Amino acid sequence: MNAQSPIEAANALDTNAMAQETTLLNPRFYTTDFDEMDKIDVSPVREEWDRLIAQMRSDPNKNHFKKTADWDEVDWENMEPGLKAEAIDFLVSSLTAEFSGCVLYKEMKRRGTNKDICELFGFMSRDEARHAGFINDALREAGIGVNLGFLTKAKKYTYFKPKFIYYATYLSEKIGYARYITIYRHLEKHPEYRFHPIFKWFKEWCNDEFSHGEAFALLMKTDPKLTSGRNKLWIKFFLVAVFGTMWVRDHARHRFHDALGIDIDWYDQEVFRKTTEISKQIFPLELDMENPRWRRGLEKLNDAFVAMEKAHKRGGIAGRIGKTLAGARAGLAFAGLYLIPSKSSTPPADPRLVPAY
Ligand SMILES: [Fe+2]
Ligand SMILES: [Fe+2]
Repeated sequence: MNAQSPIEAANALDTNAMAQETTLLNPRFYTTDFDEMDKIDVSPVREEWDRLIAQMRSDPNKNHFKKTADWDEVDWENMEPGLKAEAIDFLVSSLTAEFSGCVLYKEMKRRGTNKDICELFGFMSRDEARHAGFINDALREAGIGVNLGFLTKAKKYTYFKPKFIYYATYLSEKIGYARYITIYRHLEKHPEYRFHPIFKWFKEWCNDEFSHGEAFALLMKTDPKLTSGRNKLWIKFFLVAVFGTMWVRDHARHRFHDALGIDIDWYDQEVFRKTTEISKQIFPLELDMENPRWRRGLEKLNDAFVAMEKAHKRGGIAGRIGKTLAGARAGLAFAGLYLIPSKSSTPPADPRLVPAY
């Protein structure tokens, strides 16, 4: 783990350190059992599969990730330093998340022999490489950039069984779609808050993430065991983990959201609502976000992370003790969220959806 906090690192403009940092909250790099994934047989969903692959092959966003006349100049130099640090933190963590997908998908394509799987992962890594490259271009304008080759080697990889990759990646693609489209629609109504041009690119961009999510929904559909029995407990775990992480991460970026004119509480709940609605295409349960314990639990989780960060900064023995105590509080808050009874739902026979927001 890197000793700097993301904000300190941004201040030092040490973006490689930021991107490399592996904490519970930062986007991670994954590795998995590629041989097992290579054995997936998509015949049960062949029709929907071929349609999705044909759409990916047509490459609707081929020319989208290029700067055009719409790309306005950003005055990084005169940006309020707090906002600048959070904007850079946002860009670096988005870049890391995009690139993490790229690396995982490319590795699957490289190691696989299954034509369907290799084709899909080839298209998805193509998209994520574009996304990451585009963000890196934006960072370069701020006089910084993340060395992606270095990151591939330096970042720690977390091993996840294929089924956990499906749950986590499916959710991160769909929540990525919901995040990007919610910001895009908000700025469509309030262009005066668009302090960086990259947000103009989010509409087509999020359609890529939407399709990637569709692919994982179909992969899960090939094996009903993945979304039934004890695996429902895992699905719930990933829902709570992904939503909880987003809540804590966004609440550490007040200046960034203020500049966008976005109320973080509203934004996060709105993204959760969209993601939940979409995930009913494949998940047999949804979190009960109307339960008052949900909101309270998220706040407790955030308080614990804020305390952890404070203790980390204090350092020394007191800092270490404080960090352990805050860590225990975060664990309890997480368990509290997990224990809220979920609502069951019945996924439709045909899981395919189109972007509707
Ligand atoms: Fe992406
Ligand atoms: Fe994606």
